[in-house]
Amino acid sequence: MAQRVSRSSIRDVAALARVSVGTASNVLNRPELVAAETRSRVESAITALNFVRNESARDLRGMNSRTIGLIVLDVSNPFFTDVARGVEEAATAAGLAVFLCNSDQSAGRESRYLDLLEERRVQGILITPVKGVTERLRNIRARGTSVVLLDRWSSTQNFCSVSVADVTGGELAAAHLVEQGHRRIAFVGGPLDITQVHDRLEGARRAVTDAGLPEGALVVLETPQLNVACGRAAGADIAGITASRRPTAALCANDLLALGLLQEMTRRRVDVPRSLAIVGYDDIDFAAASAVPLSSVRQPREQLGRAAAALLIEEAVGDPRHAHRQLIFEPELVIRESSRHAA
Ligand code: RIB
Repeated sequence: MAQRVSRSSIRDVAALARVSVGTASNVLNRPELVAAETRSRVESAITALNFVRNESARDLRGMNSRTIGLIVLDVSNPFFTDVARGVEEAATAAGLAVFLCNSDQSAGRESRYLDLLEERRVQGILITPVKGVTERLRNIRARGTSVVLLDRWSSTQNFCSVSVADVTGGELAAAHLVEQGHRRIAFVGGPLDITQVHDRLEGARRAVTDAGLPEGALVVLETPQLNVACGRAAGADIAGITASRRPTAALCANDLLALGLLQEMTRRRVDVPRSLAIVGYDDIDFAAASAVPLSSVRQPREQLGRAAAALLIEEAVGDPRHAHRQLIFEPELVIRESSRHAA
């Protein structure tokens, strides 16, 4: 059985280095306050005793831990892992670690993670909420834990938020398909009460209306989730539509849906883009690498993460210059083979 190594405490380090506990603690947390010779003695004692600081002790003293929380909707979606990379980069630069939590679009799981992160005294929480800004998030902030909305626009000035103009993104994608000559376009995505999906559909509707097309030009295929399997299922639905009424193009609420749709069309030997043009959303790395390179609405994923983390850290450290801001980034349409064909 592995031998248990006894944990030395900060008191043991202070005794060995012949300094006060406060001085030993400063070497760990504010080394600039300690004279070089004293700092060296404490660091030698830390090495000699194999000392590891005890974060739980900080928590017990009611101090905030050196961590932030990040709650995402779907950790299997490369969009969120790219965003998380940006968060982690900014947090690391500020000396903080990141607790990554996956709500899986479940309000119950989100709630349990919010409890855990508050109990762990994180400096702040970045969240893509399953629903809108809830009373729960307001209370968490009122109890002293900063909260910044990520990939969600805050309609109130009381929260910082970082998001992308999804209505514009939906408009760009649909206008491109209309310009290609498509007059019957499927919108694939859901649930429609997810803000990102709702806004992308709203943008697509605007583009179709602005082009003077009838409302029926946009056929909404609502999906239960935003993943590859639902994209494949939407492909089966589209293939089952009578040929005379079948859409010639599909705008998907994210790239995972688009890749699933592309996979199903390929399995059915339906030519993409000649029989069905496809546009995704996010421009994750798999989009360009797909067998038929996917057109997509690019979101600046890592930039979103960095910006959200910077706002959270600024608020958490009590920067007097901090004012709540709602940052909105512009999406960009990237056209590739999957929609580069005139209808
Ligand atoms: O979570 C679903 C989608 O919303 C992601 O693919 C990304 O587009 C986000 O904005």
